[in-house]
Amino acid sequence: MTPLIRAEALSHSYKTRRFLRPNLSHMALDGIDLSLAAGETLAVVGESGSGKSTLGRMLLGIERPTGGRVSYEGRDLSSFGPAEALRLTQDLQMVFQNPSAALDPRLAVISQIAEPLLIHKLAGLAEARSRAAEMMERVGLPPPLANRTPKLLSGGQRQRVVIARALMTGPRFVVFDEAVSALDVSVQAQILELIRSLRRSGGFASLFITHDLRVVRHVADRVAVLYLGRLVEEGPARQIFAAPGHPYTRALLAAIPGSPLPRAARLHAGEIRREVGLGCALVSRCPVASALCAQLTPPLVRLAPGRRLTCHHPLPRPAPRAQGAEAATAGLVHSVASQEESA
Ligand SMILES: Nc1ncnc2c1ncn2[C@@H]1O[C@H](COP(=O)(O)OP(=O)(O)OP(=O)(O)O)[C@@H](O)[C@H]1O
Ligand SMILES: [Mg+2]
Repeated sequence: MTPLIRAEALSHSYKTRRFLRPNLSHMALDGIDLSLAAGETLAVVGESGSGKSTLGRMLLGIERPTGGRVSYEGRDLSSFGPAEALRLTQDLQMVFQNPSAALDPRLAVISQIAEPLLIHKLAGLAEARSRAAEMMERVGLPPPLANRTPKLLSGGQRQRVVIARALMTGPRFVVFDEAVSALDVSVQAQILELIRSLRRSGGFASLFITHDLRVVRHVADRVAVLYLGRLVEEGPARQIFAAPGHPYTRALLAAIPGSPLPRAARLHAGEIRREVGLGCALVSRCPVASALCAQLTPPLVRLAPGRRLTCHHPLPRPAPRAQGAEAATAGLVHSVASQEESA
């Protein structure tokens, strides 16, 4: 079956200009292959600068790749003409970290939620407003907030407005780029639960970008781990949490506050190796690196359908004691569950 979204050998390099020095190019994404089926949620995790947002922008066609391609329902995004590209924005949407920056401070929230229907000429003013009011209800915004400006809403309410707006055209694919990172933990849990229920009812696929692994388990079907623009591990969320195969994935899990994983699972404070060359990019920081890792780039190996890994020394399945890594993510999930109960 044709995937909804597919990235093939996707690369992106940014030119960095330096005064009196030749332009350097910086590889933000390097040869990524990924695909998403309709309705599926893929979480993309990795440290700051690992290329998560760049990947999200490429998949939506906001930025063009410098190598490889992205296809939507089997068709290369670069082949869409301007009119088709506008039509495509009904299907492909993005929700960013900072809701305040995404909203017009002077416009009533109901008008902002209704706007995509007017831009795409999908409804007249009265119908757009009535559908916006319905959407407000779906995302948990009480009707009296309709005519307020964003300034008069809380952070969580503002993010609900942004999500409502993104869903008005019935998108098939939504990129959530650190969509809950700016919110405090209890509001994060509510917004995550909202995203989960909207996904079930709206049936859209999503790319959920986050540096915080605690939130991933709650929303994702699959997880892709990026390190310096490369895919280092991918697999079903449950497997990634229970038995990470890559030392980098395990280090991300070990860094979750309260993780029972041993300190030895963490990365060394080595220099971050940014140049593209031979050897594994993680070698200077990896707790299990060998001489081989410095000499030979590990290939991406397919362990099972949907489970890929690039490491010369994949980790064995953890002993039962270490499997408690899952427990470190349970706090947030638990807080969602308690809120559901109390609601
Ligand atoms: N417009 C740009 N010009 C030059 N370099 C850029 C640009 N945008 C991103 N980069 C670089 O590309 C790399 C990947 O950036 P990206 O923003 O995709 O990372 P990220 O994983 O989203 O990080 P964060 O978690 O901090 O948001 C980084 O090294 C970044 O400095
Ligand atoms: Mg980012």
